[in-house]
Amino acid sequence: MIKVSPFVMVIFGATGDLTSRKLMPALFHLTQQGYLPDRFFIVGFARRNFTKEQFRQMMKEAVEKVLRLKIKDSSQDLKIWKQIENNLYYQQGYFEEKSPYDNLIPLLSSFDKETGSCITRFFYLATPPSNYSIILKNLEETELAEGCGSPFASTSAKASAGEKASGDKQGFTRKWTRVLIEKPFGKDLNEAKNLEEQLAKTFEERQIYRIDHYLAKETVRNILAFRFANTVEAIWNRDFIDHVQITLSESSGIGNRGKFYEGMGALKDVVQNHLMAMLAYTAMEEPLSMTAQHTRDKRVEVLDKIRCMTEEDVLSNAVRGQYGAGIINGKSIDGYRQEKNVSPDSLNETFVALKLYIDNSRWQDVPFYLRTGKRLNQDFTKIDIFFKNRDSRLFKQFQIGNQAANIISIRIQPKEGITFRFFAKSPGFTYDLSTVNMDFSYSTAFKKEIIDSYEKILIDSMMADQTLFATAKGFSATWEFITSVISGWEKQTLPVFPNYKAGSTGPVEADAMIERDGRKWMF
Ligand code: BG6
Repeated sequence: MIKVSPFVMVIFGATGDLTSRKLMPALFHLTQQGYLPDRFFIVGFARRNFTKEQFRQMMKEAVEKVLRLKIKDSSQDLKIWKQIENNLYYQQGYFEEKSPYDNLIPLLSSFDKETGSCITRFFYLATPPSNYSIILKNLEETELAEGCGSPFASTSAKASAGEKASGDKQGFTRKWTRVLIEKPFGKDLNEAKNLEEQLAKTFEERQIYRIDHYLAKETVRNILAFRFANTVEAIWNRDFIDHVQITLSESSGIGNRGKFYEGMGALKDVVQNHLMAMLAYTAMEEPLSMTAQHTRDKRVEVLDKIRCMTEEDVLSNAVRGQYGAGIINGKSIDGYRQEKNVSPDSLNETFVALKLYIDNSRWQDVPFYLRTGKRLNQDFTKIDIFFKNRDSRLFKQFQIGNQAANIISIRIQPKEGITFRFFAKSPGFTYDLSTVNMDFSYSTAFKKEIIDSYEKILIDSMMADQTLFATAKGFSATWEFITSVISGWEKQTLPVFPNYKAGSTGPVEADAMIERDGRKWMF
């Protein structure tokens, strides 16, 4: 069984949404399953003034809310929580000031002393991206990134990561410091490059964990197993596949994230990363092995082959939308422009539909339709592989027609599983064909819970496994494509927003885009 060694994780932006909604519940589950050591250290770093006790209380409430627990009512949950609580610390500070980082130096050293070893340091950047640069600069200048023994450490992080700290006064073995960095990774190709340069000043590639939680989703990871452990791979190409649809549809809006979402938009928020992660797994070649290097290389290879869009392509193959007021589940919903911290004449997109091509021999001329939106009528993330219809001499007379006979639908969430649609003979004296579904569902096939992606992210970073983390090259490839879309949009006349109602399936232009090709969106 996996057992992690003692570590310290400093979470920058610890009072934000991500820590409460994802990281703390993930730590709770990992502790519950016995993966974490008795002693580990989580240091919340944020602007607001809290005592350690207040921070602990806040985190407890977050865990109770997300996991729907009443910790005091269950002695088992209480025991787990106590184990986590004793390991939680808080450092108040502004990201741009040096003194709070200086305060971290003795605090982190005290953890090394207490455990009697040089424990691995994780710096988790869970702040708005505008803070990344200053945090990295301060980590570098205070030498916190150098790991154990600092400020006594005499060699630079780059030279010493993962090696014995021979000159270390405490005589501990130096561990690799690691930085975990949340998306969005820059706002365009240029910003992403600048950020990479800055990261490279302080950290080696093996110390950098770029998070795209879709890469770590169980159902996304299963795409590799489904394709490459099965014979279906033999028909996974342009000879048999007509087109692919990838959809991330959400009925939720932007919540309290108006400030973050303005100037971000759906294209940068989820297409550049999550949809591209699903695309990569769907379209990549088979890696030589499961190692981080081989799988990441293959993901990048295919992302690199996405054809950038010309201005004309953008005009016909990149639809954007923004929701107006509407009704979802019988409840009246405000339009995007009425959301908190959103400009009343915002031109930010909350919906995107794209048609793109991958220029390699496997996928030449096979369209990939990508679609995502907020405040849509349904919540689902799905990949639909539409196979070409078979030209059957035998069944010609039965008028199979234009409807797609064979579709493999990979349900990323909810109702996780895979459906295969095919023609079957409907019972009776004559041969009448109907499409039917064959279904695999995680909930019935396995008696195990699906692991949350953040649990996987935390465990893998602790085990120094970078397989499910994005790479600089991959992000640069996707940014190049995204930037071509943005430049096309910039040359167009300003969009007339809102152009779809909350609770609908998105703008009519998105339907028109796919229907022009004689196809329809799958729901
Ligand atoms: C986040 C985006 O990265 O992913 C959100 O910022 C989006 O806008 C979310 O809602 C979707 O992730 P999941 O795991 O809930 O599908």
